[in-house]
Amino acid sequence: MEETKKSLLDDSFTSAMTLTNSGVPQVPDRYVLPPSQRPALGSSLGTTETTLPVIDLSLLNQPLLRSRAIHEISMACKEFGFFQVINHGIPSSVVKDAFDAATQFFDLPVEEKMLLVSANVHEPVRYGTSLNHSTDGVHYWRDFIKHYSHPLSKWINMWPSNPPCYKDKVGKYAEATHVLHKQLIEAISESLGLEKNYLKEEIEEGSQVMAVNCYPACPEPEIALGMPPHSDFSSLTILLQSSQGLQIMDCNKNWVCVPYIEGALIVQLGDQVEVMSNGIYKSVIHRVTVNKDVKRLSFASLHSLPLHKKISPAPKLVNANNTPAYGEFSFNDFLDYISSNDFIQERFIDTIKKSSS
Ligand code: OGA
Ligand code: NI
Repeated sequence: MEETKKSLLDDSFTSAMTLTNSGVPQVPDRYVLPPSQRPALGSSLGTTETTLPVIDLSLLNQPLLRSRAIHEISMACKEFGFFQVINHGIPSSVVKDAFDAATQFFDLPVEEKMLLVSANVHEPVRYGTSLNHSTDGVHYWRDFIKHYSHPLSKWINMWPSNPPCYKDKVGKYAEATHVLHKQLIEAISESLGLEKNYLKEEIEEGSQVMAVNCYPACPEPEIALGMPPHSDFSSLTILLQSSQGLQIMDCNKNWVCVPYIEGALIVQLGDQVEVMSNGIYKSVIHRVTVNKDVKRLSFASLHSLPLHKKISPAPKLVNANNTPAYGEFSFNDFLDYISSNDFIQERFIDTIKKSSS
């Protein structure tokens, strides 16, 4: 790890925050995307107006209405692999505190943040910029701190000690998200016709990676991105955003802007659910645009089975007509893949698809 830190420093690590704060009038060349990958902001080209699903999660706790909510979730998962949730039970004060701690963290002097820098994707806590500063061809206008978050007591001591409120405030949000994720996974299992408690133990002991992302104002948002198109390895990702910027790809391969809804959280299906459902549900491809005026913060909480636990298609969803369409994989397999492959060129999930189906 010392090696990695040193080489990053030698490589003159520059965060997006540093560039924005220094007032650069243009993005450095390494951020400029090839024309075909640019986000076409401000034109209707390539982006579509679609109404994306918003689900009232309080229905899940009402015996007479639960099946309606499950049906809505099933429709959203089939059509988009994506939905927003309201009445999700996480208090707005917990959300506000988490944003407050993240704002303070990214505003720290760069030397302080560099204490946690690493290019090693296996590190349980790491600060960085772009996707991986040391290997990215094109760079992305994003800084991040990622930390393992479940069980909280195992990891929290490794989290940033500055700002002093960080552990407490982000810890409370992480715990609340873990509870919410269990409810969502139960509902998603039910919507697939599986037992509500399918994989219960593995989910309870599962891994949670909290990616706290900071996308500072960018001088040339039409030629750069905050994150490239990708799907998450997780079973599902719960995303909290401070303003609009996320786009998802719909089934016609059009980019759709995800509206900002005050108080709502975004739920995205990841590769583990695609495999578990044997492809009935697909992980959603998404990307992040940046903008000239405001800094955008997001918390992406990626939930999955434990690091080394393999996920495979649920036996109940496999039969003579529906043979397994995927091999098995673990979170650790995904980390190994991204440390030696360019996951923008080939999606990880494509490498475990069985070719016969
Ligand atoms: C991610 C991600 C989206 C966002 O961290 O994997 O897709 O809006 N984030 O920050
Ligand atoms: Ni993502």
